[in-house]
Amino acid sequence: MKRIGMLTSGGDCQALNAAMRGVVKSITNAERDVEIYGFLEGYKGLIYGNFTMLTGKDFSGILTKGGTILGSSRTPFKLIREPDENGLDKVEAMKQNYYKLKLDCLVILGGNGTHKTANLLREEGLNVVTLPKTIDNDLWGTDMTFGFQTAVDIATEAIDRIHTTADSHGRVFIVEVMGHKVGWLTLNAGMASGADIILIPEIPYDIDKIIDKIHERTERGSKFTILAVAEGAISKEDASLSKKEYKEKMKNYAYPSVSYEIADKIREKSDYDVRVTVPGHTQRGGSPCPYDRVFASRLGSEAGKLILKGEYGFMVGIKNREIIKVPLEEVAGKLKSVSADASIVKEAKMLGISFGD
Ligand code: F6P
Repeated sequence: MKRIGMLTSGGDCQALNAAMRGVVKSITNAERDVEIYGFLEGYKGLIYGNFTMLTGKDFSGILTKGGTILGSSRTPFKLIREPDENGLDKVEAMKQNYYKLKLDCLVILGGNGTHKTANLLREEGLNVVTLPKTIDNDLWGTDMTFGFQTAVDIATEAIDRIHTTADSHGRVFIVEVMGHKVGWLTLNAGMASGADIILIPEIPYDIDKIIDKIHERTERGSKFTILAVAEGAISKEDASLSKKEYKEKMKNYAYPSVSYEIADKIREKSDYDVRVTVPGHTQRGGSPCPYDRVFASRLGSEAGKLILKGEYGFMVGIKNREIIKVPLEEVAGKLKSVSADASIVKEAKMLGISFGD
């Protein structure tokens, strides 16, 4: 008999269900006697003992379904050691629920914050296997996270559609892509859709360089310019501020997001007709693309294999197209960001794409 607890934590993404289905199918194909405890809304479910019993049937027909059948929520790692409003020790509560249900292991699907807590639970003695989800693709230790490729498809389509209307009206269009800390999604969607300027958090921009690029395109006869801008894009001036100074400045921030600020600055310094489009959470919604369905299923299958063998304390991931396992302590707390020297950035620059630097 195997007793498996499962939860999805943090911002959702496509293929969470496909990944869970992969785990459950691979285990139930090998072993009949399995109990699955689905904790609801992420770590909250584990803390407060809120779970539902699931069988193989619950994982049938969900390969293509977006979202997560378990629900999700954010439980910030920095608050995990702080008691809740009723004085409950959250880490102790999670451990107690794990032992009370006599679980063999926890399967945790999540991104960066989720992995820090998963590693903490491992340090506390629980058996944990994790799967890397996030549209940001910013988890260290894996070349790819599931959800990313689908989000690239969605953001690319948004920019593709903007191209035709930008051309008709001769406008400068800014499409804001998700990603507060890293620019993988913006970089890939921007390149896939032929954006002229790509702004990402890792490469601070100079507004004059952006305007120079638009002028250059106009002089060459282009009627329009497309900017793919990450939510977390930052100007050179802001990047030079200390954390404290930046926080202070943001208290009086007048814009809904960085794209509107960039649009205003372009308008102040030129006569271009500028528009902003924010696809927002559409990038996280709907059915996973075929790549993510296969990838999440492969990861689920590998996680199932580890559980059957009783090998715990790993995140499953992919390196050079091979599914691998990485020790959780190596993954937790590390971000995989875009380096300004990365070959993909150099290649994009060779194509004439400006990063505003
Ligand atoms: O981490 C995934 C992500 O979609 C980021 O790209 C984005 O900045 C953030 O989550 C949005 O979070 P929320 O859904 O809480 O608004």
